[in-house]
Amino acid sequence: MLITFEGPEGSGKTTQAHLLAEYLQRQGEQVVLTREPGGTPIGDLVRDILHDPLHKDMQAWTEVMLYSASRAQLVAQVIRPALAAGKQVICDRYYDSTLAYQGYGRGLDLAALVSITQLATGGLAPDLTLCLDIAAERGLQRRLLGGGEWNRMDQEALAFHRRVRAGYLELAGLEPARWIVVDADRSAGEVQEMVRRLVAGRMQG
Ligand code: TMP
Repeated sequence: MLITFEGPEGSGKTTQAHLLAEYLQRQGEQVVLTREPGGTPIGDLVRDILHDPLHKDMQAWTEVMLYSASRAQLVAQVIRPALAAGKQVICDRYYDSTLAYQGYGRGLDLAALVSITQLATGGLAPDLTLCLDIAAERGLQRRLLGGGEWNRMDQEALAFHRRVRAGYLELAGLEPARWIVVDADRSAGEVQEMVRRLVAGRMQG
């Protein structure tokens, strides 16, 4: 299965993706855990360009092309080979991030974004997408207090992050068979318990 984690800033995706990967490994699964942007040597270099807070003049479509470039490399080099080898793949963000951030957040044309995404992924869709939902203010507050990376996207206005969150909820509503929205404004342990239950249910089903 290809399982993706999505959600606004500070929703705890990275922690949850790691915990799920460890759990599935303990269950005897072969797991590949990766992330976007990045996950390959080329993608990690693209990530540095994308997230450098000094790159304030980056154009919206440049941003789309760079996220898509990282994604094309990740799908070809990591995700498809792992799925072909029968492994479970967990990805911390995937193309829904482009729809949420560049589409709903920046207001770019969603149909055009879907086309670019199709090119980058060769049409590879996740089997399950877990959206860790949290209010934009709460997520950004967590992110600030967490003391981790504060990147070019984090410094966007609150209104932008609110549009991203609303976009995720709309995307989830459009494809309910693929998406599950999880309330992420709880402890990491509680969220993980829910995530495991949902993933186990989907794997058995
Ligand atoms: P994060 O994974 O550490 O949250 O950082 C990724 C940042 O990049 C986050 O702000 C969301 C943003 N992003 C996009 O805007 N579009 C994309 O397609 C992807 C994958 C990420």
